[in-house]
Formats: sequence, structure tokens, C-alpha cells
Amino acid sequence: MPAKTIIITGANSGIGRAAAARIAGEGHRVILACRSLEKAAAARADIGGNTIAAELDLASRRSIHAFTDWVHQELDQVDVLIHNAADFDLSKTEREMTADGFERIWFTNHLAPVLLTDRLMDRIITSPQGRVITVSSKGLLAHPFQTVNIDDPMFATRRFTPAAAYYQSKLAQNMYTIWLAQQLSGTMVTANAIRVSKVKIDLARFPDLPQWMKNLYALKSLLAITPEQMTETYARTALDPSLRNRSGTLLDHQLKAVPFPAYAKDPLCIERVMILTYRQLGIQPAVTFSDASGPAEPTGFR
Ligand SMILES: NC(=O)c1ccc[n+]([C@@H]2O[C@H](COP(=O)([O-])OP(=O)(O)OC[C@H]3O[C@@H](n4cnc5c(N)ncnc54)[C@H](OP(=O)(O)O)[C@@H]3O)[C@@H](O)[C@H]2O)c1
Repeated sequence: MPAKTIIITGANSGIGRAAAARIAGEGHRVILACRSLEKAAAARADIGGNTIAAELDLASRRSIHAFTDWVHQELDQVDVLIHNAADFDLSKTEREMTADGFERIWFTNHLAPVLLTDRLMDRIITSPQGRVITVSSKGLLAHPFQTVNIDDPMFATRRFTPAAAYYQSKLAQNMYTIWLAQQLSGTMVTANAIRVSKVKIDLARFPDLPQWMKNLYALKSLLAITPEQMTETYARTALDPSLRNRSGTLLDHQLKAVPFPAYAKDPLCIERVMILTYRQLGIQPAVTFSDASGPAEPTGFR
């Protein structure tokens, strides 16, 4: 297989880092896009191979713009974009706002991947087999009534909990994946989501977690798989030629297609979430494809 160029966000730790090592180990070029350049460089030094450390703070619009400008300068083609990074610090007791005025989890986990994909679509579309991969959570199964609160996605007037914010953002990413796959139908670019099951996390990364939560995590991690085990799905979703025509699906840790939550598949709900998304970002979708003939004028959401 010819070497591909793969961007992995949050590639300095956990599953993202293990996936970067695995994919770079297969001879591909991997861009480790991390909010700390220092951490990215340390991961790069450990992983070796054809890896590049780059700075990308998904909680900052300025950083996303700087990163995508760098990509446009350095790379002619991006084959795979893996939206692995996520803010899921469950020790938060109050919502935090980004410098741009967005609730941090909503922006980092949902709006930022949409913005990043849009700004890189001109590079992904040049790949003979471009792939956009979002990362979901099996934990959504335990939240069957989870919705995206269209009127207040950023918890301005309702009680904030990090879990509610996290699962709302992951649900919105599910909907985005389905929507994006539809927009891209008739092109060589696919969009799929990976459903991560319980994977061991490094508790040292969350020093502010209350002790009872640390104990709970420690207990849960007895049943958890390792980041390395999860990377098989990342690597195959990114690279497996047999998946070239698969789009708009949710793949579990064994690469089995599993159903999206019912709410996430509802066309009206998807439309509302995507209107909200682009309205909040203040941009028009970069590309909307009506057919195989190529990019149409953005239909636009007003
Ligand atoms: N572990 C699980 O059991 C589990 C279950 C379901 C889903 N998932 C999903 O799997 C993915 C990977 O999780 P993991 O377990 O590997 O966790 P992790 O080790 O904590 O990795 C999360 C990564 O996201 C990065 N990140 C956080 N905020 C960011 C920002 N503003 N900009 C750029 N990067 C940012 C972190 O960077 P820093 O090092 O700078 O913090 C870190 O590299 C996430 O999408 C998560 O939601 C995990």
C-alpha cells in the first residue's frame, strides 16, 4: 500500500498515541496534532518513523486556523483525518468558556472537528481514498435519552455536568458523521465513526478527579481493553482498502458495524443540529456535494 498521510488529533496520549505508533509503524506519515507542541514532540521522539509534531488546540479557533494554514503550506494531500482528541475531564464542576466564547466541551469535541474538517476538505478531497473518522463512545448506550439541546447546547441556562456535556458532544459528532457521509456521497471521501469501548486511561492525567471517581475508574479499568487493542479499529478504519466504500457507519472495537443511537439517525434532528453547528461557527459548509460531478455551491444553512 502506498504511504498515506494521516492526521491524528490528541496523538500524544492514550488511544491516539497508540494509533499513531501503529500507523507510523506501517510506514505511513502521521501528523501528531496536539494542543501541546512539547507533548507532541515527546510522542514523536518515542514513536519515531515518519511522524511530524504539530500544535493544534481544538479549544481555540485561532489555533485551528494556524494549524490548517500550516497544513495548506506543507501538505498537498491529506488521506485520513482522525478526530481522536476529546475533552472529557469528569472532575469539572462548572462549565468553562473558551477565549472565543464557547462552552469548552461543546467546542472542543463537536464544533472544532467540524471546523477542522471543513478547513482541510480541499486537501482530503485530493486523496484517491480520503477518510474522515470521528470518535464516539460506547458510553452513549447508557444514555439512551441523550439529545442535543438545540436551544442551549452550551449550558447557559441549565445545570452543567461534564458527563452531559461530553455525551451531548459525542452524539452531535454521530449526527455530523451521518450528515457528512451524505454530503460526500458520490465522491471518493468517506466519513465513519469509531465507537470506543471502555479503554484504560492514565489516571495521572486527571489529578483533580475526586478519590471516589478514581476508585471507580480503577474498578472499571479491570474490564477495560488497552489503547493498543483499540488501535486495530483505528488503523483499519483509516487504511483498510476493503472499507473504501463504507461511509456513514459506526464501527465498534471489533470493527463490527453497530447502530447509531435512534436520535442521531433522525433526519430532522440531524438537520437541526447541523444548522445550529454552522450557525455557531458562523460559516457555510465548505463543500456540499449534490452528485458525483463535484462540489456544488454550498446550499447553505441560513
Ligand atoms: N478511554 C475510554 O474509555 C474512552 C471511552 C469512550 C470514548 N473514548 C474516546 O476516545 C478518544 C481518545 O481517548 P483516550 O482514552 O485516549 O483519552 P486521553 O488519553 O485522555 O486522550 C485525549 C487526548 O485529547 C487531547 N485533547 C484534549 N483537549 C484537547 C484540545 N483542546 N485540543 C487538542 N487536543 C486535546 C488530550 O491532550 P492533552 O494530553 O494535552 O490533555 C489527549 O491527547 C476520545 O475521543 C474519547 O472521548 C475513550
